[in-house]
Amino acid sequence: MNAVSAAPPITPLRWRAGLELLDQTRLPHEEVWLRIGTVAELAEAIVRLAVRGAPAIGIAAAYGLVVALDEPSDGDPAATVAAAAARLLATRPTAVNLRWALEAGQRALASFVELPPGERRERLLAWARELHEDDVARNRAMAAHGAPRLAGRPRVLTHCNAGALATGGIGTALGVIAEAFRRGSVAEVWVDETRPLLQGARLTAWELGHLGIPHRLITDSMVGALMSRGLVDAVVVGADRITVRGDVANKIGTYAVAVLAERHGVPFYVAAPLSTFDARLADGAAIPLEERAGGEITHVAGAPIAPAGTLAFNPAFDVTPAGLVTALITERGVLEPPLSPAIARALAGERQ
Ligand code: MRU
Repeated sequence: MNAVSAAPPITPLRWRAGLELLDQTRLPHEEVWLRIGTVAELAEAIVRLAVRGAPAIGIAAAYGLVVALDEPSDGDPAATVAAAAARLLATRPTAVNLRWALEAGQRALASFVELPPGERRERLLAWARELHEDDVARNRAMAAHGAPRLAGRPRVLTHCNAGALATGGIGTALGVIAEAFRRGSVAEVWVDETRPLLQGARLTAWELGHLGIPHRLITDSMVGALMSRGLVDAVVVGADRITVRGDVANKIGTYAVAVLAERHGVPFYVAAPLSTFDARLADGAAIPLEERAGGEITHVAGAPIAPAGTLAFNPAFDVTPAGLVTALITERGVLEPPLSPAIARALAGERQ
C-alpha cells in the first residue's frame, strides 16, 4: 500500500449560492475561481476550456440549467431552460456527456415544472447536485474495477487529463491509476504533455503532484520510443464519446498511442462512465470531432512559435477504433471484447 496525499481533493467546479469554476486555463500557475452569473458566461467558459473534460462539462451544464432559471426572464421556464440547453450544447460537439446532462435536466424539469418558481428552482438544483454526486460515486467504482488491471504493471502512461479536474470526483483514467498506486502496483506515471493545449503538462502533472504520485512528463512524440524500450507497462486514458461498438473519441493523439500500444503489446485501457457512451452511434467515424483555432498550434501560451501567417490544422479529438482497445473500464465493471455485446449489456443495466 502506498500513501496518497491527504491534501484537500481537487474539484473543477462547485455550487456556492451560484456556480463557480476553477479556471483551468490558468493552471498550474494560479488557482482562480470564476463566478458564473449567466448561461452566456458558462458557454464562453466551456468554449475556452476554463472547464473541460467530458464529465465535468456535463456537470457544469447541469448547474447551468439552474443558472438559466436564475436569470431574469418573462418566458416560461421550460422554454428558458430549453434555450439555455441549446446554447450550451452548441459549445463543444464531441463529449456526449454534455448532451446527456442537458437532456436529463430537461426531462427532470418537465416532471416538476408546474411547481411554484422557488420550489421548481430548488428541485432543479437538487437534481444537478445529485448528478454531480453520482459522478463522484461512479469515479470510485471505476477505480475499484480498473485498478486490478494494473497489478504487476508499475509504469503506466496516460494522455491528456482524465483526472479530478475533468470530472466530479477522483477522475476516470487518473482515478484508476491513483487507486492502483494506492494498492502498490503502479509506481510511476508517464504523462504525455498533450499538444497543443498541454492538458498533460499543465493539469495531469499538477494533479499527480497534488496526490504525491511519482510521474515524469514526456512529449507526445516520445511514446513510441518509450514503448520500444519496454518502459511502458500499460496505457489508461479517458474518453469523450464511445460508440455502441466501442470506438473511442478522445483527445487528439490518443489514436497514435493506441496504435503504438498494439505494436508493442502494451494493454490499452479506456476508463469512462456510461454517460460517455452514445447509444445512438455505432461507427466512430460519425462522431463529431471539434476543430479549434489554428492559433492554438502556432502559439504556445500566447507566444508565436511559427512564422506569422502560418496556417495550422487543429482537430481537438481523434477516434481509436474498438479493435485497438484492450478493455473499457466503467462503473459497471470492465467490459472486454467483443465490446458490442458487453456495451449493450452495460447500457441495458443502466436503464433498468
Ligand atoms: O479538450 P478537453 O481538455 O476537454 O479534452 C479532454 C479529454 O480528451 C479527456 O480525456 C476526456 O474528456 C475524458 S475526461 C474524464
